[in-house]
Amino acid sequence: MRLRCFDPACAATLDLHAPALECPRCGGLLEVDVEAPSYAASALKQLWSERRRSRDPRDISGVWRYREFLPAYPANQIVTLGEGNTPLVRGHKTAAFAGVSDLQFKHLGWNPTGCFKDLGMTVGMTEAVHTGAKIVACASTGNTAASLAAYAARAGLIGRVYLPAGQVSLNKLAQALDFGAEVVEIEGSFDDALNILLEKTSEGIYFLNSINPFRIEGQKTTMFELMDQLDWKAPDYLVVPGGNLGNSAAFGKAFDELLRFGLIDRVPRMIVVQAAGANPFAQLWRDGADELSPVAEPETIATAIRIGNPRSWKKSLRGVRNTGGQVLDVTDEEIAEAKAVIGRDGIGCEPASAATLAGLRKLRAGNVVPENASVVAILTGHALKDTNFIIRAHQREEAHAH
Ligand code: F0G
Repeated sequence: MRLRCFDPACAATLDLHAPALECPRCGGLLEVDVEAPSYAASALKQLWSERRRSRDPRDISGVWRYREFLPAYPANQIVTLGEGNTPLVRGHKTAAFAGVSDLQFKHLGWNPTGCFKDLGMTVGMTEAVHTGAKIVACASTGNTAASLAAYAARAGLIGRVYLPAGQVSLNKLAQALDFGAEVVEIEGSFDDALNILLEKTSEGIYFLNSINPFRIEGQKTTMFELMDQLDWKAPDYLVVPGGNLGNSAAFGKAFDELLRFGLIDRVPRMIVVQAAGANPFAQLWRDGADELSPVAEPETIATAIRIGNPRSWKKSLRGVRNTGGQVLDVTDEEIAEAKAVIGRDGIGCEPASAATLAGLRKLRAGNVVPENASVVAILTGHALKDTNFIIRAHQREEAHAH
């Protein structure tokens, strides 16, 4: 395996473990170039199925179980908390709310730190250990910070997280502190925090935001596990929230590999949903633009996706286009309403995750998605990630009732 520039016009290649954050030739995004596996698709499926009965920590992890599609490391370097293995939960009230008959949620909030970030962090942190890093860092709206802090603690590395001051849910901040990370508060947005951190990469800090291609590799396995759970039959639609666009980028890469190496024979249409106040990708899609115009002051109650300048938009766009999907945005009111319905299904999630249900409802209302379509929505964060939001919503409800 090698690193490769994502821009096909450049396609420069680098050593897999080269310490680069961008293409040295053109400045583009990097990705891991996965080679054809040495097993046939049916043999791989059988192998992955058998690993579910194994006690090897790599087989227990829902990420490393699929390691034929990941960079290889010595077993003792792998930093894992048993991430993945998240269930598919059928929506009832949520399905009626959206107006579809077949809705399932893949709840990535039921990961070790309550968020999908763990799936990428296990690979990113393992690579950090492999390269001999001592300090790992990220900018974050909260969840990446919590996940980095946990995995850094496991690996015995110093974790440092750059957070937009006053704009991160206290539950997430508390996690980062609990896991012993150094917290740096930045006046400004997530985008400002990321810019400040990127200026520091020369200082021997290993960088773990999702432009790190190893994070993307781990997050990619969500789609391997999902297809495995669906007996390798893709649903009609996959709905995912979009912030910095690393997760949808990872899913797009997964579909490409799953299809190319014969593990599935069709892909779901990938729908990316942004918050209306932080919607540069939805704007690009609506306008048919070639370049992303960042939103200078992103604003949404879904603080996890309060991002104005998503770094991985080109990768995400390729995934949306290749799957015949689309991008849209939903208002904060729509997010709050959808979140409450997810709660009433006994599932729960944080606000950013509820953008999926709100987006699905909107597409169904516009007759873009048919009533009988099979839909999987990705819930990215646990309900307990933002308890303040829930309490305030219910206080408002009570105030209205009286
Ligand atoms: N949902 C949740 C709960 C998130 O925390 C994030 C991103 C997203 C969705 C969007 O995913 O960025 O891959 O498009 N959170 C990052 C963080 C930015 O710092 O925790 P994306």
